[in-house]
Amino acid sequence: MKKILIQLDTDLLPSSFDRVVAVDADVDELFSYGGITPENVEPLVHGAIFTRGPQDLENTALFLGGSNTDDAEAVLQKVQNTFFGPMRVSLMFDPNGSVTTAAAAVLSAGQHLDLAQTKSVVLGGTGPVGYRACQLLARAGGEVTLVSRSEAKAAKATEKLNAMGYKGHVTPAGSSNGAEILQLANDAQFLLASGAAGVQFLTTEELKSLSNLKVAIDLNAVPPVGLEGIDVMAKAKTIDDLITYGAIGVGGLKMKIHKAGVRKLFESNSQVLETEALYELGRDFVKH
Ligand SMILES: NC(=O)c1ccc[n+]([C@@H]2O[C@H](COP(=O)([O-])OP(=O)(O)OC[C@H]3O[C@@H](n4cnc5c(N)ncnc54)[C@H](OP(=O)(O)O)[C@@H]3O)[C@@H](O)[C@H]2O)c1
Repeated sequence: MKKILIQLDTDLLPSSFDRVVAVDADVDELFSYGGITPENVEPLVHGAIFTRGPQDLENTALFLGGSNTDDAEAVLQKVQNTFFGPMRVSLMFDPNGSVTTAAAAVLSAGQHLDLAQTKSVVLGGTGPVGYRACQLLARAGGEVTLVSRSEAKAAKATEKLNAMGYKGHVTPAGSSNGAEILQLANDAQFLLASGAAGVQFLTTEELKSLSNLKVAIDLNAVPPVGLEGIDVMAKAKTIDDLITYGAIGVGGLKMKIHKAGVRKLFESNSQVLETEALYELGRDFVKH
């Protein structure tokens, strides 16, 4: 039976990036829909679950995407509420690549650090990528500082994360300049820059002054990079004693996780591949 992936995208034009990855992950047929909202998604979900018999539903799956992750989360909720009993198909949630990127960044750091014993600082921690990276770091048992320009935004995101009940703890911080970031990251071993594209947080000199830092990852590929001096291509590249990764250096692992997620969808009809599941899937591609 043919493997059909139904791409539900909250943007008007379904992401061509997600479509290319679906083809590279060997789906047989790809149905792409844009402009998806909680109000219009139900008939599309019914079309997915009522066409093939329950024993064949593992051959149909959903991919939920879109550039606005809050909108995509609302669609995710509605889709899950539309399933019932065995009438469901597996789904992957990765709006704007945020989930696979966060998973790849934390898995990369975890190759060099015992995350349960690590103090991490996440810049741009209120964004879709940074927020999920904080989630995974807390899940691993570490101490995490979630940094935003707004203390109130940081506090709101942190409250949600700590309510998830992970072993690790997240602390909010408001910061608007390099000097404040240096103070926050003074005793950290891991620094993740996940700010908006083109936003620079630290200069090379500032980054070098963080003497306790072991790993620094910058996810911003758009010049100027978030942490000056980190090459966008860097993949475990050392600068003095600091291990660095740039956006494209992390991107290779992100792509592997994305493809593996799409392939895994077709193993059964009841999977929900979100932050934790995609992180676990990514472990196959790194040293344990
Ligand atoms: N390598 C990859 O495969 C890949 C994939 C996806 C994304 N990315 C990159 O990962 C990064 C994070 O993505 P995202 O979608 O989470 O980003 P985002 O939502 O655009 O921005 C993340 C956070 O950056 C902060 N920010 C925005 N403008 C700022 C400014 N002028 N100064 C300081 N902070 C600012 C905001 O936090 P506050 O308002 O709370 O301060 C925002 O929540 C981006 O650089 C993106 O391009 C890489």
